[in-house]
Amino acid sequence: MENSAALPFTLPDEYEALRESVRALADKKIQPFAHDVDAQARFPQEAFDALQSAGLAAAHVPTQFGGEGADALGVVIIIEEVARVCASSSLIPAVNKLGSVPLMLGGNEEQKKRWLTPLAQGKGFSYCLSESEAGSDAGAMKTRAVRKGDGWVLNGSKKWISHAGFSEFYTVLASTDPEKGPKGITAFVVEKSDAGVSFGAHEKKMGFKGSPTREVYFDNVELSDDRRISEVGAGFSLAMKTLDHTRITIAAQALGIAQGAFEVATKYAHERKQFGKSIFDFQAVQFMLADMAMEIAAARQLTYAAASKSESLAADLTFFSAASKCYATDVAMKVTTDAVQVLGGYGYVSDYPVERMMRDAKLTQIYEGTNQIQRLVMARNLNSVL
Ligand code: CAA
Repeated sequence: MENSAALPFTLPDEYEALRESVRALADKKIQPFAHDVDAQARFPQEAFDALQSAGLAAAHVPTQFGGEGADALGVVIIIEEVARVCASSSLIPAVNKLGSVPLMLGGNEEQKKRWLTPLAQGKGFSYCLSESEAGSDAGAMKTRAVRKGDGWVLNGSKKWISHAGFSEFYTVLASTDPEKGPKGITAFVVEKSDAGVSFGAHEKKMGFKGSPTREVYFDNVELSDDRRISEVGAGFSLAMKTLDHTRITIAAQALGIAQGAFEVATKYAHERKQFGKSIFDFQAVQFMLADMAMEIAAARQLTYAAASKSESLAADLTFFSAASKCYATDVAMKVTTDAVQVLGGYGYVSDYPVERMMRDAKLTQIYEGTNQIQRLVMARNLNSVL
């Protein structure tokens, strides 16, 4: 009991050092552009350049392929610190991880070398699961890959694809045996330059405006069999295993958004004077800020625990991944809404970042599985925590 550093709730020094360096980079090179990126709905190029040159855009890539080999908690801290100042920018490391985890879990060494090396060098990697009629019910997808000689021909379209058009590589889930439903789905890597690949218009979103979201179309895209990264029919399971690891990155993003809004609200509450004193001196405001701090702390513990389970492939990972995503994103929605409330009229206009943070928080409750789907996943995995 005498050495508190040995207690499990203290992060090892290397993670605190990572947080410090990412925060410094985010404050200096990402935050100054966050307002413009949102207002102009433009790609956060400055953030991409800063993250890429610091090895943070795809830090999860193993060192043998030129990445940093960051573990799940390291990636969580990177995303959290970037999201604290700019949620759109935090999708750069998050999307790159989401797109490439199927390859890391299912690909052979040759395939990993082929696509992870350029990913570490700055080529993006997106994940194509959702379709216009297959969102929550991802297994109902219609995109088809049909055998042709030794290879495949891909036809169909994917919707809501983060970084579509920007990324060079795409993990695409396609049905190879429609009669088998989710058990007839196979995973492929498709490249932007493949003949027959094209992209739809940019979606006009409520938040995350700096992150491009487009449809991806496949028109008779011919793929050799070495593009296949799952066993035939095992793609859905690979897609779900991937989400077990990456929903935690959305929890991290939500955590960062909430932390950013909490900091702005607390500073404002101390500075803003009404009725002759700072509004922080009113209990009504103190209680809101106390709740924010309490809920963020709880979300952080759950998210870090889930990251550690991702690393150890714990039996209760599926539950913890869904729980962290669901809890942290609900916290982000509440904290950002309350932050707008603390700032009053100033919170509702774009002179302060909290209205942007509130719009950004909303998406975290929706993508990588709605929070209703997270609760369904948790309910199906209660045995792992009994
Ligand atoms: N790990 C491994 N395999 C799994 C698994 C997991 N966690 N979950 C399911 N599977 C496999 C199993 O093999 C299962 O077969 P068994 O019955 O033999 O176990 C098979 O998949 C089918 O599973 P279910 O019967 O559970 O499938 P379902 O049709 O009921 O759907 C679902 C399950 C949880 C609802 C799933 O469809 C789902 O997660 N939906 C949400 C989709 C989603 O999260 N989309 C996010 C898109 S990405 C995005 O948003 C990113 C972005 O922009 C940044």
